[in-house]
Amino acid sequence: MSDTSDGQPNSAFTPRVFSGIQPSGGLTLGNYLGALKRFADSQDQGVQSVYCMVDMHAITVWQDPDALRRQTRELTAGFIASGVDPEKSILFNQSQVAEHAQLAWIFNCVARMGWMQRMTQWKDKAGKNTQNASLGLLAYPALMAADILVYHATHVPVGEDQKQHLELTRDIAIKFNNDYGVNFFPITEPVIEGAATRVMSLRDGSRKMSKSDPSDMSRINLTDDADTIAQKIRKARTDPEPLPDTAEGLAERPEARNLVNIYAALANLTVDQVIADHAGQQFGTFKPALADLAVAKLEPISTEMKRLTADPGEIDAILRRGSERAREIAAPILAKTYEIVGMVR
Ligand code: AMP
Ligand code: TRP
Repeated sequence: MSDTSDGQPNSAFTPRVFSGIQPSGGLTLGNYLGALKRFADSQDQGVQSVYCMVDMHAITVWQDPDALRRQTRELTAGFIASGVDPEKSILFNQSQVAEHAQLAWIFNCVARMGWMQRMTQWKDKAGKNTQNASLGLLAYPALMAADILVYHATHVPVGEDQKQHLELTRDIAIKFNNDYGVNFFPITEPVIEGAATRVMSLRDGSRKMSKSDPSDMSRINLTDDADTIAQKIRKARTDPEPLPDTAEGLAERPEARNLVNIYAALANLTVDQVIADHAGQQFGTFKPALADLAVAKLEPISTEMKRLTADPGEIDAILRRGSERAREIAAPILAKTYEIVGMVR
């Protein structure tokens, strides 16, 4: 893992990976390929990784309390079923480590209103009636910066949609370091790589696959059974052309490209390898192959999630233990931040 591209001296910081997912609904194939699978793949590279169920981010829009509890446990089960090992990685929920909220307050005072109002996710989620959106929804990226920087995390694996928030995290770190004349917070690198950094809707190749899409046919949920997965792939929107013989041939074909990307990510192949194997195939042939692959990879995950969620006590114990380990890293970094800012201790 390298220094930041703009030459900021990050070598003073031990490499550490942090990422978070909101427990605000079911998990999709997009979350799996864009996030969970990559978290599992990266945990054996000798770098400490910290993964968080960001329940405080979830409540920036209304969450039913019982549903929030259930979804937090289900998300934890999703991490573990996807291969994230709670012994190797630190796995916990945000609200159990108060340092996130404490550092977020400091960052609320570093970040500027204009930065927040420019965020695409704020504009999308707040909609036209911004006066009625929660203040938390506007401040969301400052809490996200705190999640990352309270661990001095240097690398953050996410999907494409989070890139802007990570740029803001860098801006906050740079402004804090400048304002206080320190080199205290690292300039975090986003890690956005692989064939599936942006998995698209199965109904519309111009929209990202999302748990909030009204059509359930637009997404594959990690809890879908084999028949449902196969049916959704069979009915996925495509064009009438056969698959091209080069990856460039997919450029103007978003739906075809999406299915090829999904195949590549699930099979751990490059897009070029998938094209080499399937060039000239009609979707009548390619879709069943993709459905078989998806069922083979996803069914064990959904079975394991069911097993794990049957014992909430076990999941809660994992989160509690993870929170203690997380706090061991976060507490001294927050204490030092307070000292830099001038809080009497
Ligand atoms: P969210 O469910 O929006 O909180 O996202 C959790 C993680 O999954 C983030 O790293 C996202 O970038 C990633 N993610 C969500 N949807 C997709 C998608 N359709 N394609 C790729 N990554 C995604
Ligand atoms: N904003 C992210 C999302 O919506 C979730 C998130 C919160 C996150 N804090 C984070 C991701 C810190 C990476 C690092 O997907």
